[in-house]
Amino acid sequence: MKDKKNQQPVNTPVLTDMFSRTISYLRLSLTDRCNLKCMYCVTEDEKNGCLVKLGQEELLTYEELLRVVRVAVEMGITKLRLTGGEPLVRHNIMHFISNLASVQGIDDIRITTNGVLLEKYAQRLFAAGVTKINISLDTLKPERFTEITGVDCFNRVWKGIETALAIGFSPVKLNMVVMRDINDDELPAFAELSREMPLQVRFIEFMPIGTSTRWNQNTYMSSDEIMERFRTLGELIPMEKQQADGPARVFKLGADAVGSLGFISPISHHFCDRCNRLRLTSEGRLRSCLLHDEETDLKSVLRAGCSDADIRETLLTAIRNKPKGHQMAERLKEDGGDCHGRMSRIGG
Ligand code: 5AD
Repeated sequence: MKDKKNQQPVNTPVLTDMFSRTISYLRLSLTDRCNLKCMYCVTEDEKNGCLVKLGQEELLTYEELLRVVRVAVEMGITKLRLTGGEPLVRHNIMHFISNLASVQGIDDIRITTNGVLLEKYAQRLFAAGVTKINISLDTLKPERFTEITGVDCFNRVWKGIETALAIGFSPVKLNMVVMRDINDDELPAFAELSREMPLQVRFIEFMPIGTSTRWNQNTYMSSDEIMERFRTLGELIPMEKQQADGPARVFKLGADAVGSLGFISPISHHFCDRCNRLRLTSEGRLRSCLLHDEETDLKSVLRAGCSDADIRETLLTAIRNKPKGHQMAERLKEDGGDCHGRMSRIGG
């Protein structure tokens, strides 16, 4: 992205949906594969070997992805996030990211990773211009990490986080999915991290996505309840809203804290009225709402020898169909509200 400075600025058009929301942010799930098997993502059966993964030919190729991105950027997308599965496990990922970074009109590429391969890739990501990173981390206890993710590699992930900080990624955000009786006893320890390290520690409400999430009314904790746990630790000082905050409400735990705390409340205080996102799943389907299963098949369009105008039309169809909101809190009371998409294919 850096070497695009001397190019003419593109006059970016604005994409709006049926509810006058500006759609400027595209999330690409590059693969459903992951080097962890987190308990909210895979079932016990799947963990024991029967996890069905997409075949190579079912994923969009890098060429297809770049083509979609070029068209989307011409239409008004300015921000991209690479997700998975685990994006860093996809073959030749750095080559793809370098090509992506040279697409004119993208001013922001971010990545969400589980951190396992971060030590290896951090320098190259940074050099390619991907300087903002989210790392999923649900526990600070090595043994519990193994229980939650199925893999004994907490120390590797922690090394990845330290490497990202040392190289100068900013912001470095840690995503903790808060689950009662699984990791909620660590809320104070995560909060304390934000006092000492320049991290934004984000507490995400557990969402009922997929058939294997372990979600239930007990494991779910609302952001209000999570915040309540911090009252005795120090003052939560609201921080001025930054564009990079996304949907998080951000606070400092005491005036001296080096980092910050973010609260993401997709269920209890949904942010649908400000939602600027479109997702491309690893199967090549456009999903306009994380918590709505309706998707638009872009892969078939691409593989039917389409024109750029056809891609544009398919993107517009997905945006036109973006629901006003997900009403998950209400649905949970009425019909259990679960959502059938797999997080590993949608990308969060
Ligand atoms: N509810 C909330 N967050 C989730 N994530 C994965 N599954 C869930 C879920 N069911 C988180 C990941 C990642 C982010 C993109 O979403 O931990 O950090």
